[in-house]
Amino acid sequence: MRIDVLTLFPEMFPGYLGQSLLKRAIDNSLVQIQLHNIRDWARGKHQQVDDRPFGGGPGMVLRPEPVVECVEEVQQQGDQPGHLILLTPQGRRLDQPHVEQLAGKARLTLICGRYEGVDQRVIDLLRPEELSIGDYVLGGGEVAAMVVIDAVVRLVPGVLGDEESNRQDSFSGAERLLEFSQYTRPREYRGLKVPDVLVSGNHPDIARWREEQQRQRTRERRGDLLEGE
Ligand code: 6GU
Repeated sequence: MRIDVLTLFPEMFPGYLGQSLLKRAIDNSLVQIQLHNIRDWARGKHQQVDDRPFGGGPGMVLRPEPVVECVEEVQQQGDQPGHLILLTPQGRRLDQPHVEQLAGKARLTLICGRYEGVDQRVIDLLRPEELSIGDYVLGGGEVAAMVVIDAVVRLVPGVLGDEESNRQDSFSGAERLLEFSQYTRPREYRGLKVPDVLVSGNHPDIARWREEQQRQRTRERRGDLLEGE
C-alpha cells in the first residue's frame, strides 16, 4: 500500500513513522509513505497558504490553490491515484469497519486540514471523502492522519505477522465486542490472583469465560456497540 500525506507540518511525522511496527512494514516494502509539504505549492514571495475568511470571523482558512494543485500533482505520481481523504472534524466518524475498507485500497492520499478549515472549493473540486477520528477538536489533521495510518497499516497483510490477532482485537471479528482481561505472570500480585479458569488448562472453559467477559464488559461500558442485536 502507498500512502501520500499532504500537510503543512511534515516534520510531525518522522518520529511516528520510526515506530517499530510501521518501520518494519516500510522496511519490508509492505507500506510506502510519502510526505508532501503543501507550502511547496504556494505561490508568491510570501508563499502564503492561508488567509482570513471572507465574511469575517476568527482564524485563518487554507487557500484553495496550493491544496488543489498539490493534490493534482501527487495523484499523477504512481500508476493510479489514491483514494482521497480530507481529515476534518466535519467528516464522518472513523470506525473499525471503515478502517477495514480503507486497508483494502492500494493507495490512500490524505489531506491534513489546519487552521479554522480549508476553502470549500477544495472539497467541491476534489470531492474527497471527509473523515473525522472522533467528536473533539484537534489543532489540525496531522494527528488524525497518523491515527488513520496506524489503524490501517496494521491490517495490511504481513504487517502484524500474526493475522489472528486482528480478529481478536476490540471492535473486530464477527461480533465487534470489547476485549477480555489479560493476565500474565505472576499468578498472584499484591493479593490479586489470576482467575483459576485461566490456569485450568480447560480450553473450552477458558473460551466461554472470555466470551462472557467480553459481553459483560461491552454491556457495561459500551452499550451502543450492542444496539441492533
Ligand atoms: Cl480529522 N481534524 C481535526 N482538526 N480535528 C478533529 C479531527 C480531524 N477528528 C476529530 N477531531
